[in-house]
Amino acid sequence: MNPLFEEEFRFNQASRPSWESSQQHRNTVTRYLKQLSSVQGDRLCVLGAGNCNDLDLNQLLQVYDEIHLVDLDQSALEYALEAQNLSEESAVFCHTGDLTGVGEQLAELSRKEDTSQSLLDEVLEELSGSNPLELPGPFDVVCSTCILSQLVLQVIHAVGETDPRFEELMQAVRAQHYRTIVDLITPGGSGLIVSDFVSSESAADLKQVPDFQFTQYLSQLLSSRNFFHGVHPGILLSQLQGKSPLAKQVYNLEMLPPWRWDLGMRQYAVAGIRFERIP
Ligand SMILES: C[S@@+](CC[C@H](N)C(=O)[O-])C[C@H]1O[C@@H](n2cnc3c(N)ncnc32)[C@H](O)[C@@H]1O
Repeated sequence: MNPLFEEEFRFNQASRPSWESSQQHRNTVTRYLKQLSSVQGDRLCVLGAGNCNDLDLNQLLQVYDEIHLVDLDQSALEYALEAQNLSEESAVFCHTGDLTGVGEQLAELSRKEDTSQSLLDEVLEELSGSNPLELPGPFDVVCSTCILSQLVLQVIHAVGETDPRFEELMQAVRAQHYRTIVDLITPGGSGLIVSDFVSSESAADLKQVPDFQFTQYLSQLLSSRNFFHGVHPGILLSQLQGKSPLAKQVYNLEMLPPWRWDLGMRQYAVAGIRFERIP
């Protein structure tokens, strides 16, 4: 079994009882996704759907004709549908698989004492290609929800943050994920990137800080470099701006106000970016 995937399964198992505590986060993600549906018949695709603690699928079915949930963890998706009484719902489709296509090679790298340069080159080559999962796209709306920090964590576990080629590999994984999102959006459709970027493990006051001080508190965390590797909200935004190869394909790019995700055992600060794909 892939130890990197096993960790994802363990996290999903542990976070199953978080439906109640995730309410505010779920309401926020669901509200943004409902706003992005523009016409009857829209199809939504969610990457990293997992337990769907962050998606009120019944509300989303009021505005989307089809919802496609994508994740490594089939049991998390099955749990999510059962928990929301949607196991028999024909408008919800589950797609199980590795969105990077390099999960097995990353696991192999994690088992080696020294990073194999040839294997790493192979991984980079594969990451430069297109989305390895054959999803029935394009979709009117595509959402990536709190999966990016996990993808970066898999890179950390594969080679370690001190490896001289860590940044190169991490950036390639991030860039591939962004390309996957944009490629899956139909021209004229919309994207929503949701990413946790710091938790109460390193920012103990995250839960207590009053709402009116939240943004200022986060600015302080970011300027003291207290955030998850590779998912600083400014960096997440810059992937779709300026000279980035994807910038020409998107417009109406907007950074949403940050919010909190209470997972019970831990609290997270979450960034949201919404945009449209040029028709
Ligand atoms: C932090 S969870 C997202 C939270 C989830 N949306 C929820 O509310 O329960 C990240 C999800 O990404 C999935 N994931 C991680 N790596 C993946 C990969 N390479 N391909 C597909 N899914 C992956 C995990 O299985 C997990 O369900």
